Amino acid sequence: MSHHPVEDSNRSDNPQFSSIVESLISRRGLLRGSASAVALGAASGLLLSGCSDDGGEPRRLGFAPVAKSLEDRVALPAGYSARVLYALGDPLAAGLAEYANDGSDDGNWDRRAGDHHDGMAYFPFPKGSGSATEGLLAVNHEALTDIYLHANGPTSIQGRRPLAEVVKEQHAHGVSVIKIAKSANGWAVDRGAAQNKRWHVNSPMQISGPVAGSPLLVTKLSPDATTTHGTLNNCGHGVTPWGSFLTGEENWFAYFTVDAASDTPELARYGIKSSAPGFNYRGWDTPLMAGDLQKRFNLAQTGASAATDFRNAAHHFGYVVEIDPYDPTATPKKRTALGRFSHEGAWFAPAVAGKPLAVYMGDDARNEYIYKFVSAANWDPADANGGLAAGDKYLDAGTLYVARFDEDGSGTWIPLTTSNPALAAFSADEILIHTRKAADAAGGTKMDRPEWGTVHPLTGEVYVTLTNSSSSSSGRGQGGGSSQPLDAANPRCYDADTGSLTDSVNGNVNGHIIRWREANGSVAATRFRWDIYLFGSRASYPANVNVSRLTDDNDFSSPDGLWCDARGVLWIQTDDGAYTRPTANDPKATNCMMLAALPGSVGDGATVTIGTQKTYVGALPRSETLARFLVGVPGCEITGVDLTPDYRTMFVNIQHPGENGSLTDFESNWPNASRNALDLGTPGVRPRSATIVITRDDGGEIGL
Ligand code: FEO
Ligand code: CA
Ligand code: CA
Ligand code: CA
Repeated sequence: MSHHPVEDSNRSDNPQFSSIVESLISRRGLLRGSASAVALGAASGLLLSGCSDDGGEPRRLGFAPVAKSLEDRVALPAGYSARVLYALGDPLAAGLAEYANDGSDDGNWDRRAGDHHDGMAYFPFPKGSGSATEGLLAVNHEALTDIYLHANGPTSIQGRRPLAEVVKEQHAHGVSVIKIAKSANGWAVDRGAAQNKRWHVNSPMQISGPVAGSPLLVTKLSPDATTTHGTLNNCGHGVTPWGSFLTGEENWFAYFTVDAASDTPELARYGIKSSAPGFNYRGWDTPLMAGDLQKRFNLAQTGASAATDFRNAAHHFGYVVEIDPYDPTATPKKRTALGRFSHEGAWFAPAVAGKPLAVYMGDDARNEYIYKFVSAANWDPADANGGLAAGDKYLDAGTLYVARFDEDGSGTWIPLTTSNPALAAFSADEILIHTRKAADAAGGTKMDRPEWGTVHPLTGEVYVTLTNSSSSSSGRGQGGGSSQPLDAANPRCYDADTGSLTDSVNGNVNGHIIRWREANGSVAATRFRWDIYLFGSRASYPANVNVSRLTDDNDFSSPDGLWCDARGVLWIQTDDGAYTRPTANDPKATNCMMLAALPGSVGDGATVTIGTQKTYVGALPRSETLARFLVGVPGCEITGVDLTPDYRTMFVNIQHPGENGSLTDFESNWPNASRNALDLGTPGVRPRSATIVITRDDGGEIGL
């Protein structure tokens, strides 16, 4: 195409120094309460020194961008190393055999690493120590690559799964808490530690918050609707200001089945229909010897009442679940005040004494919503080590909001409460259990699949990845069979081969990252200003799709994991199926990746028009402010990232390597038995999801 219909009136990426200083002063003055002179000094230092070492905001990344890769090994910048710390099947109890990795292990999956490592957080140990050499790592195990878990893949006889396979699959989901420490030999899991714990699909848990005891949660296993079993499809995460771990139940709905007589509009709104089993349905309800922990995955109304069957069993999933990593005996709690949907994760704004707490959340499905929960209680720093009792105080009472993004760059948080006239038809229980229906009625903005969020600790601005809208027939835009129109917050629809807006279109193929600033810097605000920080794209696409002008150094697709560390470095992880193969027009392709970024702030870019859709894009990145840091292995997603408090050790998850493989062609053989993550996989070896630990050979801070 010779024309570029992107209105592009103010796209300077070289702001005047004076405006940078002003911006830094206003941010620091607002958020840190620091004196202007101190802020000015820090800002001047930044401007003179580039990469700040005085505690100010860094201005450039400290590594050379990593090239795109299709190799069966992890790629990192020169001078970095990575080892496998915790791989699928690794034993978590003294005396348990090493993982055979041939499907022969059985009967001990509540004491081994689960599959599909996802959201993750490092908790210094002992509690409150701030240790950078000893900690507890909480790791989500979202789902399974079944073919590698069993000797010959999953089996069934006349439609019935063997119970042993089902229990193994249930135990390989959930969350790990593992004790880890650094010695002269590097980081290792303390396999015999008393703190090690596997929470899985059958672990006892509590229903907490407003809907505990609701008739809508009564089941045969939970007649008083206050207890439940298990957490499922644990995707993203959160870390509370009181040092506990939150885990998001994402694609839980897809494990259930229902019969035609028991179909309901409420189940259908969550993707559960008798017409087709969910994409994660594994027949857990079918074994001949199945107990109620298996039978509950069939929602058929077979009994005389809800207390005698599992018609309400799906109402026990779809929550944010709180786990105290420091207390393996504390029963996890489902925090129902945060709503029920496909929870990606739950990310806090920094806690401020005397102010309410805010938690940002995404519902990861096409055309679903972004939410905020604001606590009723104001933050008391005395609760900083408060465990699940602090969770009771801050997460069981508050207000849930859904986000509306308006065409003029403003936004509104709409309360999902019985006092909202739009929700007159809902009871308080129904709002929190059928949250999607409440958000529909309240008028939230349908988004291109909200994934992770993070709050920039220096600006207070909130970032959320919108991964894409293109992987089915229900993509956004005029193509793909969807009636959902474009809007300013979800403005792209284009062809995956050419990047053309006018050819046959596939939707928002590569995703984007939206961000906003709450009015008056208050987490309880009901108004905000937003823009789109960054658009994913192939570097080869035309400028009206490659709106952020990505280059070979930093082009990416389908942002998912997202985390801004305390220094202001934003880590972006991808879960992509679009850039993993060449197109007819672009021979380039790459495995999924992680980038590091130094984002600016809302409003630092320009108003642009993509086709006919007006929107707002952030200042253009440069390779010094957005660069590829890591590339994974074939079939994997990169998800989950944390740093030790000294920024010198990074943990990252390589999820489902070889996911597109088969028992005759594994696609990936990573990791190698050497457990050096940078080594090529060994042919013939089944791939394993794993946590890797990244360090710099000179012992320096990661990324800067
Ligand atoms: Fe499990 Fe939305 O990623
Ligand atoms: Ca994700
Ligand atoms: Ca994803
Ligand atoms: Ca995945």
